[in-house]
Amino acid sequence: DIHPTAKDGSKAVAQEIATLIRERQAAKEPAVLGLATGSTPKYLYAELVRLHKEEGLSFKNVVTFNLDEYYPIEPDALQSYNRFMKEHLFNHIDIPEGNYHIPDGTIPKEQIKAYAAAYERKIEEAGGIDIQILGIGNNGHIGFNEPGSNVNSHTRLVTLDNSTRLANAYEFSNMSQVPRLAVTMGIGTIMKAKKVILLAWGSHKAKIVCRSVEGHSTDQVPASLLQQHSSCKFVIDEQAAAEL
Ligand code: GLP
Repeated sequence: DIHPTAKDGSKAVAQEIATLIRERQAAKEPAVLGLATGSTPKYLYAELVRLHKEEGLSFKNVVTFNLDEYYPIEPDALQSYNRFMKEHLFNHIDIPEGNYHIPDGTIPKEQIKAYAAAYERKIEEAGGIDIQILGIGNNGHIGFNEPGSNVNSHTRLVTLDNSTRLANAYEFSNMSQVPRLAVTMGIGTIMKAKKVILLAWGSHKAKIVCRSVEGHSTDQVPASLLQQHSSCKFVIDEQAAAEL
């Protein structure tokens, strides 16, 4: 879907999420969301907060799983995705504390495998992800699944590409402070979601959006693997659509 601006696109996706939440409320069932961080979903979260405050949308039946987190990182560090989610969404809505899950950047290395397997299990026990929200990195990464990530990969510890560390360096005081590792859901985890919505705004995303949608599906462009998902859409603004 192409919208005039990022705000228009974000509002449309927020409405889709609100509809799911209300349907599940009526059926007394949970709505399970997969959530992303970065600058891209900020308007979406602002709109969900607005729907909560102004239109009474409740998140009591909502369960969420975040895609990724830097490693290692303390949850209250300025750049942590744990902190990001609280500041942009969780602190402003009525989601019960036990209902949201964000990969933990403080797990000792030798425990990460077991931790990652437990994260996958929790998603399954919740009934699987109904709607997975994604952003896209300049190299086509989704979550922190860099080029070369296997289509069947699951939650795991990964090494960040240098280009990703550079792109995200603005969040840190200097490049050497950017973690070299991250914990991320895998491409396989994302592919299991019932519905996937990738958001992209701005002319700097136009090239990779085009490559992901119109190029062949290859693990060298992780977002292009979404062509193999049965219910995936890109919600983008006119600038990000410029090369299509
Ligand atoms: C980060 C995140 C991704 C995000 C991407 C794009 O590295 N791990 O989940 O989609 O970069 O970031 P932005 O939305 O700021 O362009």
